[in-house]
Amino acid sequence: METEAGRKIAVIVVAAGSGERLGRGVPKARVPLGGELMLTHALRGVLAADIASHICVALPDGDAELQRLCGVLAAETSAAGGPEITVVDGGSSRAESVRSALAALAPEVSAVVIHDAARALTPPEVFHRIAASLAEGALAVIPALAVVDTIKTVENSDPGTASIAPERVRCTPARDQLRAVQTPQGFDLATLRRAHEQAALLTQSQAAEVTDDAMLVEAMGVAVYVVKGSARSLKITTPTDLLLAEALLEGPLAPRWVEG
Ligand code: C5P
Repeated sequence: METEAGRKIAVIVVAAGSGERLGRGVPKARVPLGGELMLTHALRGVLAADIASHICVALPDGDAELQRLCGVLAAETSAAGGPEITVVDGGSSRAESVRSALAALAPEVSAVVIHDAARALTPPEVFHRIAASLAEGALAVIPALAVVDTIKTVENSDPGTASIAPERVRCTPARDQLRAVQTPQGFDLATLRRAHEQAALLTQSQAAEVTDDAMLVEAMGVAVYVVKGSARSLKITTPTDLLLAEALLEGPLAPRWVEG
């Protein structure tokens, strides 16, 4: 799809994570959810949103099953006149997986939306809010929700007090200013490429601290705008998340689901 400003949008789906915390012994994108693989849900969600002229999927290196899945969906989508779907091998960090996909985008693309396959149930309206902000001229835009828990930052206890508890509270940020950030995150392509060129110079431990793309763009002083996310965009990380996702998808909760 072209935004109103005439930009062509690519969607990058990062699906190269190991999924260790789900404990299924297979990459997370291959975990079954409601009778389909997690990646199938994620890609069908991107297709339903209909914002992309190109979809690039970062897969676990050499994963033949997921390559086949993407190939089938690419053929089906192409036959229906939909966007091109291509795959790349992901890297050892999320940021590396994003960089592999950024290097493989169609040349006419000028805006990019990065999405975690693990947020497999993200509804189309979240993609539409991101695309609308890009069309209005945002260089960076992310979806987020207000947090319900009180959040504290902590530090290690002193050696003399470590027997009481390993950590102690440093401070309590004002909750009304905190947001839980999700994907899809939208960017002007040149801006995100610049941010990732700088991130490629980070040490391995610094790279491990890069948990989303927006933080790289923030570090360059670029304004990152925030639109409303969705509780359906939960990141399926633990067995409890998987239960909740199954319930959202087809369980008795689904008809009673009301977006907050
Ligand atoms: O594990 P984490 O929460 O960082 O995963 C977020 C998303 O990034 C997941 O969809 C996962 O598949 C992806 N990822 C990736 N390459 C990695 C690590 C994570 O594509 N090396």
